[in-house]
Amino acid sequence: MTLNKNLLVLAAKKYGTPSYVYDSVMLHSSYTELRNALPDCVDIFYALKVNPNTSLVKLLRSYGANTEVCSLAELEIALKAGVAPRDIIFLGPCKKEREHKRALEVGVFTIVVESETELKRLSALATIMNVIAPVAIRINPNFSASGSPWKMGGRPTHFGIEEDTAIKDFGRYSEYSNIEIKGIHVYNGTKILEAKSVFENCEYILKLYKTISEKYGLHFSMVDVGGGLGIKYYENESELDMTELKALLAPLFNDFHLCFPNTRIIMESGRFIAGRCASFLVTVDNLKENHGKKFAVTDGGTNCNASVIGSGQLLKRNFNIENVTKRPSSVMKTYNISGPLCTPDDLLGRDVSIEELVEGDILAVTSTGAYGPTASPVLFHSHGYPAEILQTNNTLILIRKRDTAEDILSFHVDNDLRALQGLPAAIDDNSFESITNVPVSGDLQLTISRNLRDVLMIPDEEPIFANSHLKNDLGLDSLSSVHILVSLEDQVQDFFVNPDTLLPRHFNTVETLADYIEKTLYQYDSQSESKAVTA
Ligand SMILES: Cc1ncc(COP(=O)(O)O)c(C=O)c1O
Repeated sequence: MTLNKNLLVLAAKKYGTPSYVYDSVMLHSSYTELRNALPDCVDIFYALKVNPNTSLVKLLRSYGANTEVCSLAELEIALKAGVAPRDIIFLGPCKKEREHKRALEVGVFTIVVESETELKRLSALATIMNVIAPVAIRINPNFSASGSPWKMGGRPTHFGIEEDTAIKDFGRYSEYSNIEIKGIHVYNGTKILEAKSVFENCEYILKLYKTISEKYGLHFSMVDVGGGLGIKYYENESELDMTELKALLAPLFNDFHLCFPNTRIIMESGRFIAGRCASFLVTVDNLKENHGKKFAVTDGGTNCNASVIGSGQLLKRNFNIENVTKRPSSVMKTYNISGPLCTPDDLLGRDVSIEELVEGDILAVTSTGAYGPTASPVLFHSHGYPAEILQTNNTLILIRKRDTAEDILSFHVDNDLRALQGLPAAIDDNSFESITNVPVSGDLQLTISRNLRDVLMIPDEEPIFANSHLKNDLGLDSLSSVHILVSLEDQVQDFFVNPDTLLPRHFNTVETLADYIEKTLYQYDSQSESKAVTA
């Protein structure tokens, strides 16, 4: 994909970084490429887990995509994007009752059930709701997709019911009340770049469909062959050969369709559809040398795109990273490009050879449209979700706002834990520092001075100043300090010592002691005021 560097720099200037820019033309061409490689009898279901941005889902729906969702929010996004319930399937190894309920209420095409326990619960719920739940059984087959570096099936995983058990128990599944078993689902692995491997995977699943339906005399109406189609991320990889894929899949699916014309054939895809359309933009904040290596520290890293780490990949390789800030010089230099996190793993790329960088340059990590922010620890350091921008007809449209500190804080529940534990409110040292504009009143200083004089029996003619040091000038030891505080509690109305907030530095001078007392009083007042407001 050729990057429109000017537009990317403009996006960074207009919406800041870190941010994602999605190219609608690329999104459309990826979807079309897949559509053209599959016979008409196969329906494409876009997997929202890959990128659930409502605007992207809306676009994909307008191209003809159906959707696969895995949570209540993903279901709502699909509905909001205008996907008809009959074109939605609901998956996931741990669905909550509220998710089953909503899926049944709106009438999704299929709920893909991943265990008999789930089937039992769904049956009970559907019975109460007086509806029939449309179900596909997810099977973890005895076969694994050879070309997938990241396998979900064919090995012990928490997905689905293992093949032998499913074949043995399938007859029982349709006996559950208010359940219609519509077919089977298998999702075996992702990042597959060999057409033959995709073919073998689909062939195995279609055979499994036949085996089970024949064994139990069941008339299924759907089969989901998963997908897992990959895209090229690294130098030594090649894109999936779509011509070869088409040549292999067309006869396979067309033959199946001839035998089972009423069975909806579903292929799921996320990475292939959305992966290539995005550039992840970051700004070079600073450059440094550290133990012989050049580092470019940027404002977005693995917190926004954990995929660059290469999950499922033994050998860590770099995504393509480009400097999109154009400058006349193009000397190549090598850098480790990091994000903002306090972990040495926060590297967007290691030993990246790139046009010499200066601070403020905008970098684009390409092919980052799949498993970007949604599959990243966006709350690490509480940085939050990056902005998302759609590039369409050379126009930039904001399609998701960047999280602000206020957004993040709004989810924190600020309980008064000390009050809940029946303890007096804590006044921590920092909160003292934040109360800056409280002047130490002369009256209070006089009270303290008088008190010190009494306790320490200092004659009237001996001066006590605000900066008189309690220990050095006035000879106050720790026992006398306690004595002073106790008598000040008696003398100064509303002043009560909270041992948790008292620090040695408050006993430096007359002024620091007066300051402590005054701030305690201030805190007390503002608390009682806010209590009065609440009451
Ligand atoms: C059940 C299921 N469907 C669809 C997908 C999307 O896969 P991909 O991004 O490889 O297209 C996944 C990915 O893990 C998945 O587990």
